[in-house]
Amino acid sequence: MRTPTVATAALCLAWALVLVPAFPQGHSSPGTGPPKSPGASHGSRCGDESLNDTDTLRRCADDGAFDAVALDEKGRMLFFKGDEVWKGSHGRPEPINATWPELGSGPVDAAFRIHHKSSSVHDSLYLFQGEQVWVYTDGKLCSGYPRAIGDEFKGVPGHLDSAVECHPEECQAEGIIFFKGSDVYWYDLSTGQLKQRAWMQVGNCSAALRWLERYYCFQGLRFLRFNPLSGDVPPHRHPRDSFICCPGRGHGHAAHHNATFHAPMDRCSGLPLQAFASDDKGRLYAFRQGYYFRLDSRRDGWHAWPLSHTWAGLEGEVDATFIWENFMYIIQGSQVSIYREDQGHALVQGYPKGLQEELGILGADAAFTCPGSPLLYVIQGSSMQQVD
Ligand SMILES: *[C@@H]1O[C@H](CO)[C@@H](O)[C@H](O)[C@H]1NC(C)=O
Ligand SMILES: *[C@@H]1O[C@H](CO)[C@@H](O)[C@H](O)[C@H]1NC(C)=O
Ligand SMILES: *[C@@H]1O[C@H](CO)[C@@H](O)[C@H](O)[C@H]1NC(C)=O
Ligand SMILES: *[C@@H]1O[C@H](CO)[C@@H](O)[C@H](O)[C@H]1NC(C)=O
Repeated sequence: MRTPTVATAALCLAWALVLVPAFPQGHSSPGTGPPKSPGASHGSRCGDESLNDTDTLRRCADDGAFDAVALDEKGRMLFFKGDEVWKGSHGRPEPINATWPELGSGPVDAAFRIHHKSSSVHDSLYLFQGEQVWVYTDGKLCSGYPRAIGDEFKGVPGHLDSAVECHPEECQAEGIIFFKGSDVYWYDLSTGQLKQRAWMQVGNCSAALRWLERYYCFQGLRFLRFNPLSGDVPPHRHPRDSFICCPGRGHGHAAHHNATFHAPMDRCSGLPLQAFASDDKGRLYAFRQGYYFRLDSRRDGWHAWPLSHTWAGLEGEVDATFIWENFMYIIQGSQVSIYREDQGHALVQGYPKGLQEELGILGADAAFTCPGSPLLYVIQGSSMQQVD
C-alpha cells in the first residue's frame, strides 16, 4: 500500500502544474492606462503612481471616501466616488455615465453584485441612487429598471449609504445587508423579510463589500472587517491596509512604508510563485515571498496580501505548503508551522517545530497530498519522497 499509484501521483502533479499557466504571467505595463485583460484587472500594481499624480491624490484624499465599492461581473473591483468610477485598484477614473449612461448624474449611494433572481446564470450589478435602483446584467440595463428601492426590496429606505450581498455560507441565507447612518438592515432574498440589526461595532459605512467570503465596511479609506451574521469586528491587524493604491498606504506599504512598485505583489511581475495549497472548500492559495494570492475565485479578482493577514505572525518566504484534515502545514527552511484552517487560521500551540522532528524530512521545495490518500508527497531537488 505504500507504493504510490503512479497514476494518482501523476494526476496530482498535472493538477499542480496546470495552475501555473492558469495564473497569467503577463507583462506589467507601467503607467495608468486601463488594464487589458478584464478578469485580470484587480491586480496589485501599487506604488506605480507618484505622489504628485493628481489622479492618485484625488483617489487617496480622505475627504469624501468612496460612495460605493462592488465587484463587477468580471471580478474587477469598482470604486465609485462622485460622478467617477475607478475600475481596479490603480489607474485613472472614468465618468460613471460612460459605462452606465442610464444613471442620473451625481454619486452612486450603494452597489453590489449578485445573481439576479430571474436568472441563475448571470451576475447582476445593482446600483442605488436616491430612491431608485438600477440593475445591470452583462453591462445592459434590465427591463423594468430603474425601480423604486421599496418596490424591489420591501421596507428598505432610499438614500442609502451602502449595501452588500451576503451568501448562505456566511449568513445562513441569501440576502442583502443595507446600511444607512448607524442603521443596519438585513433583507432575506428568499422570504422577502426585512429585519433591523442592532450592531454596535459596524455602521456609518460609506461603502460595503464582500470579497473572498469576507465582509468590509469602508469608513473613509479605512475599512473594518465584520462578521455579517453577528456584526462583530475581529481584532484589526492592519489598520492602514487599503484596497487601493495610495502612496504610503495599504498592501505592502503597511510593512514597507515604501511607495515604489513592489514586484512580489504584482501577480504579473513574472516572479515565480513558490508554493500552492488548496483546502477542502476549494480555496486555492499561491505564495510568493511574504505574500499570498487566492486563486480560486477569478470571479472575485486577484489580490496580494501579506501572509500575516490570514496566518497570524507568519512572515518571510514559504517553501512548501499542504493541507491535511483542516490543518495547513507551512514549511519554511527547516521549520514547519501548522495552522487550524477551521478555527480562524490559528497557529497550533508549540509550532513552528523542526521539520525533521515533525515529518522526518530535511527540507522541501514542494509538497502535496492527494484526495483519499494518507500519503504526503514531498519534492526536494529532483527527488520525490512519500511520507505516510
Ligand atoms: C512629479 O514631479 C516630478 C518632479 O517635479 C516630475 O518630473 C514629474 O513629471 C511629476 N509627475 C507628474 C505625474 O506630475
Ligand atoms: C456624462 O456626464 C457629463 C457631465 O456630468 C456630461 O458632460 C457627459 O456628456 C455625460 N456623458 C454621457 C455619455 O452621457
Ligand atoms: C455612527 O455615527 C453616529 C453619529 O455620529 C454615532 O453615534 C454611532 O456611534 C456611529 N456608529 C458606529 C457603529 O460607528
Ligand atoms: C522600495 O522597495 C523596493 C523594492 O522592494 C526597493 O528596491 C527600494 O530600494 C525601496 N525604496 C526605499 C526608499 O526604501
